[in-house]
Amino acid sequence: MKIVYFSITGQTRRFIQKLGWPAQTFVEITPDFPDIEMTQPFILITPSYAEETPFVQHSQEVMDPVFEFMATGINVALCKGIIGTGNRNFAGIYIFTAKELSVKYQIPIVYDFEMNGTLSDVRAVKDIFEKLSKGAEIRTIEKQMHIEHREQI
Ligand SMILES: Cc1cc2nc3c(=O)[nH]c(=O)nc-3n(C[C@H](O)[C@H](O)[C@H](O)COP(=O)(O)O)c2cc1C
Repeated sequence: MKIVYFSITGQTRRFIQKLGWPAQTFVEITPDFPDIEMTQPFILITPSYAEETPFVQHSQEVMDPVFEFMATGINVALCKGIIGTGNRNFAGIYIFTAKELSVKYQIPIVYDFEMNGTLSDVRAVKDIFEKLSKGAEIRTIEKQMHIEHREQI
């Protein structure tokens, strides 16, 4: 199992360093070379950069490399879960890019955290990594959609 990540301002990269695992565990998506063909299962950790108007929410162009990466080879099939990073100040569009990828490719969001994460986020991600490595399925996206649905009522 690998961890694939993307980082624009370095917060997600800082979280990756906190995991303290060997460099070969990680693959970084870069704007210059987003179309990396994965050959083994992985978890995607992605920040969100989105915009919201009264009519539409959409990810900003800076996130295109992550979408290009997912559209490469059999990467969608190998992606076992998405971890969204963001900032709760963005309220309704918190971790929006992760949610957009989740809906587009039908891959569960298995966890989310803010900025470069806390020690408890590090522990949680390590736990999820271990569980998914053993073949467990974590279907949090269904729970989240359920909660969102309730909030609208
Ligand atoms: C222009 C801009 C737009 C952002 N949009 C969102 C957003 O829509 N949702 C969200 O949860 N966080 C948003 N964030 C916060 C980032 O996702 C957050 O800071 C993240 O940790 C950045 O990760 P990175 O430094 O690895 O790129 C935005 C930040 C900036 C500067």
